[in-house]
Amino acid sequence: MEDKLNFMQQRRDIIIQGGGDQRIEDQHQKGKQTARERLEQFLDPGSFVEVGTFVQGGLEDASTMDIPLPGEGVVTGYGTVDGRLIYLFAQDFTVSGGSLGEMHAAKICRVMDLAAQNGAPFIGINDSGGARIQEGVMSLDGYGNIFYRNTVNSGVIPQISVIMGPSAGGAVYSPALTDFIFMVDDTSYMFITGPAVIKAVTGEDVSAGKLGGAAIHNDTSGVAHFRAKDEQECLTMLKTLLSYLPSNNLDSAPAVDPVEPSIPADDLADIVPADANRPYDVVDVIKRIVDGSEFFQVQQHFAKNAVVGFARLNGKTVGIIANQAKFLAGCLDINSSDKIARFVRFCDCFNIPLVTFVDVPGYLPGVHQEYGGIIRHGAKILYAYSEATVPQISVILRKAYGGAYIAMNCKSLGADFAFAWPTAEIAVMGPEGAINIINRREIEKAENPNEERKKKVDEYRTKFANPYIAAARGWIDDVIDPRDTRRQLIMALDSLKNKHEDRPRKKHGNFPV
Ligand code: HXC
Repeated sequence: MEDKLNFMQQRRDIIIQGGGDQRIEDQHQKGKQTARERLEQFLDPGSFVEVGTFVQGGLEDASTMDIPLPGEGVVTGYGTVDGRLIYLFAQDFTVSGGSLGEMHAAKICRVMDLAAQNGAPFIGINDSGGARIQEGVMSLDGYGNIFYRNTVNSGVIPQISVIMGPSAGGAVYSPALTDFIFMVDDTSYMFITGPAVIKAVTGEDVSAGKLGGAAIHNDTSGVAHFRAKDEQECLTMLKTLLSYLPSNNLDSAPAVDPVEPSIPADDLADIVPADANRPYDVVDVIKRIVDGSEFFQVQQHFAKNAVVGFARLNGKTVGIIANQAKFLAGCLDINSSDKIARFVRFCDCFNIPLVTFVDVPGYLPGVHQEYGGIIRHGAKILYAYSEATVPQISVILRKAYGGAYIAMNCKSLGADFAFAWPTAEIAVMGPEGAINIINRREIEKAENPNEERKKKVDEYRTKFANPYIAAARGWIDDVIDPRDTRRQLIMALDSLKNKHEDRPRKKHGNFPV
């Protein structure tokens, strides 16, 4: 027995050592941790249980210590975060650059299946050169098996990708199929074809960071959802995200003790300027309403004209969506439509109620937007809200004009309750645009066209740009004092906690993409 125990331990030690001291040192030199160090830092102390430790490709003689690719370049298993079960993998760049071969993929698929069967979140820590070139089509089959599971498990368990090194070629598509992507400044990058191929094909000269670094995918492409300055901050942010999420689609997000906002709501009525053309920061509004004034933004750096993220009301997770008047006057455009629709759909998958704060002048006009397909992209918001069956509440702070009024979860799109602040302006279009159409002739004929225009704008604003016409039809349930918003939301959410809605049976809808 002693011999066999020693033999087992020797094999295990080789596997735990990964690519060996020099490659581990190289990894540290790049500012990266090893796969096992990352797992240790992320999970509750002592909670990690490895699954598939001895998995190895091509082993026909187990009498030797010949293990060319220890662990097949990936560590897989389960553990807990804040006491909650998580299944996960961490790719080991010290072994063949974390490249994905047949058995590497099989190890990942095994924990994906376990995560889905046991209703626990699935997390992938990616650090890989992509398909293992030597394994050819077997690597491609491995990717296919992972993509298939990502898709089947979508909406069943939260799936989260953390990019902590290269993610090149096909390696980008499993993350892209998951719910959220985290990236780390300077050390992580994602691209389909790298700088060398781009140079050869298009002649463009671009560095890996400029092509697919954390800043690019968080600010410009919208591929990633979170950006951290280093690995430690990244894993801390990941834990914060998990704290807002249920473990699966049949569960509720964990409730915590309710706390009042740490920023009092006394000045809430003064944050939104009376002048409808003046900007403000909608995050200042949100922080005065939610528990502890804590708002965890998703895609904070992308499509800044919309704000989405998680917060708590009375201790329970809510998904918050808001127009951000500070950028593009809060208009909806192609990117903000994608951002809002994806977030709404995530929340709906996982029983997270939606609270929408509206101050939107409309969809962004322009040739660039039309050519880019604002019709197709804008439709995503309409679809996502209409499809959602979780409790939905909207609060109109100021402007709610035209198609954008509908898109931001008006009652006809499925909001259970709609409230308006007294400053709300709900109409088919803003006063300036409207009088240029309906009063054009009178203005042209007037002795002083500017004065006439101003008079008509004022008349329009008094007559139409208020919440009472919508409230008279019941499309607004109440016009409320801004300082009372938190209480109204908490009571409304409580009244909706058993909401249940049946829809016609179908295979699935055809979401506009
Ligand atoms: C096999 C690989 C590998 C790969 C890296 N390695 N990528 N082995 N297959 N795809 C190995 C290297 O040979 C090296 O082994 C070790 O990993 C570390 O790699 P280095 O190049 O020394 O490291 P570094 O300088 O940090 O560069 C990392 C890298 C580079 C940028 C990721 O290795 C690289 O460009 N790799 C190829 C990336 C790529 O084109 N992938 C796409 C594959 S096709 P030794 O033994 O020397 O330590 C694909 C399509 C799938 O993914 C489609 C599915 C739908």
